[in-house]
Amino acid sequence: MADHQKSALFSPLTVSGTTFKNRVVISPMCTYSADDGLASDWHMIHLSQFAMGGAAAVFTEAAAVEPRGKITHGDLGIWSADHARALKPVTASIARYGALPAIQIAHAGRKASMQRPWHGNAAMDDSDAGRGEMPWDIVAPSPEPVREGWIMPGELTIAEIGAIQDRFAAAAGHALDAGFEVLEIHSAHGYLSHSFLSPTSNQRNDAYGGDRAGRMRFALETAEKVRAVWPDDKPLFVRISSVDTDGVTEGWQLEDSVVLSGELKARGVDVIDCSSSGISGPATAAQGKTPLGFRTAYSSRIGTEADIATMVVGLVIHAEHAEAIVADGQADLVAIGREALFDPYWARHAAHKLQADPEFADWPEQYGWWLVRREPQISEYRDV
Ligand SMILES: Cc1cc2nc3c(=O)[nH]c(=O)nc-3n(C[C@H](O)[C@H](O)[C@H](O)COP(=O)(O)O)c2cc1C
Repeated sequence: MADHQKSALFSPLTVSGTTFKNRVVISPMCTYSADDGLASDWHMIHLSQFAMGGAAAVFTEAAAVEPRGKITHGDLGIWSADHARALKPVTASIARYGALPAIQIAHAGRKASMQRPWHGNAAMDDSDAGRGEMPWDIVAPSPEPVREGWIMPGELTIAEIGAIQDRFAAAAGHALDAGFEVLEIHSAHGYLSHSFLSPTSNQRNDAYGGDRAGRMRFALETAEKVRAVWPDDKPLFVRISSVDTDGVTEGWQLEDSVVLSGELKARGVDVIDCSSSGISGPATAAQGKTPLGFRTAYSSRIGTEADIATMVVGLVIHAEHAEAIVADGQADLVAIGREALFDPYWARHAAHKLQADPEFADWPEQYGWWLVRREPQISEYRDV
C-alpha cells in the first residue's frame, strides 16, 4: 500500500461512510459522444482509464436529467432506466479498477441546445441541420438569453420548476440503480441551477427570484429532493460557481456562496465543489492567463466559513501543488480536469513523485511488478 504517512494528497478521506482512497478526483468533463444520452464503450474506456490511473473517484461528464437539459446533442443522459442500464458496465469497470464511480447530474437551462465545441461552441442554429441536428426549445428562470444572438429561453412556471426538480430526484434514483457511489448536482457554469442563483440571469419576482433567499430556493429544494432519494451513506456533492466573473460585476459573490454552502450543508450536502464563472459565457475555455490553482481562495473561505468539506478545481497540474492544497487545508479534495486528459495516470504519477507509493504497490501488479524492478536502472535519469 502507498505510504500515507508521507502525503496528505494520498491519505484517505471518509465522507458519509464512503472512503476516498486518496484526494484526487477526476472532474466531470463532457465528451459529447453519447447517442440519445446513452453511454457506450467510449464512456467505459474513457472513464476506466482514470480509475486505472489511480484517482480515488471518477466523475462522468454532466448527465442530463431530461432531454431538454442536454447542452449538446451528444450529452450523456440519466433520465430513464435505459440510461442507467447503459451506464452499469461503466460503473462496474470504474469500481473494478479501484475508483469510486461518480456522476454529475445536470440541466443546462438557457445554455442548452449548443453546438459541440468543435462544431462552433455557440448556440445551435439552422446551420447545424446538415448534421441532422436541430436546435430545441430551452428554458430558464427568466426570458434572458446568455448573450445577444443566443436562443431565447422560455420562462419556467412554478409547476415546471417543481417538475424539473423531480427530474433531478428521479435521476438520482437512476444513478443509484446504475451503481454510482458518489453523486454531484451541477449548480455552476451558467446552467439551470446557477442561472436561478445569479441576479444577472434571474429576474423573477416570485418565490424563486428576488432576494438571495429566493434565488437560492431552486438549488436548495433540488438538493433536498435529491438527498431524499440518494442514500445517506453515499456522498452528495454540489458544484457551484463560487463567484460570477466573465465581466459581470453585480453577479453572484463569494459571500453568497458561503451562505449557500451552509444552507446546502443543512440539507445533507457533504461536499462543495468550488468552481467559478460561466453565467454569460464559457467557464473553462476562456483563454486568459490565470494563476494555477486560483480557486483555492474560494474553497478555503467556503470550507472555513461554512464549515463543510470542499473540492477545488481549476488549473491544478503539479503533484506538489495538489499536495500543498490538501496539507494546508485549502480543500479536502482536488479535482483534476484537462491535466487528466493529458495524463490519465496523473494520480499514480503524482504518488510516485511525492514518494507516496515508491514501490508501485498500488499499481496493477501487471505493471507494478515491472516498474519497481526497472526503477534502479532509470531513477537517476528520470528528470533528465
Ligand atoms: C472538455 C471539458 C468538458 C467539461 N465538462 C464539464 C462538465 O460536464 N461538468 C462540469 O461541471 N464541468 C465541466 N468542465 C469543467 C471541468 O470539470 C473543470 O472544472 C475545468 O476544466 C477546470 O479544471 P482543469 O483546469 O483541471 O481542466 C469541462 C471541462 C472540459 C475541458
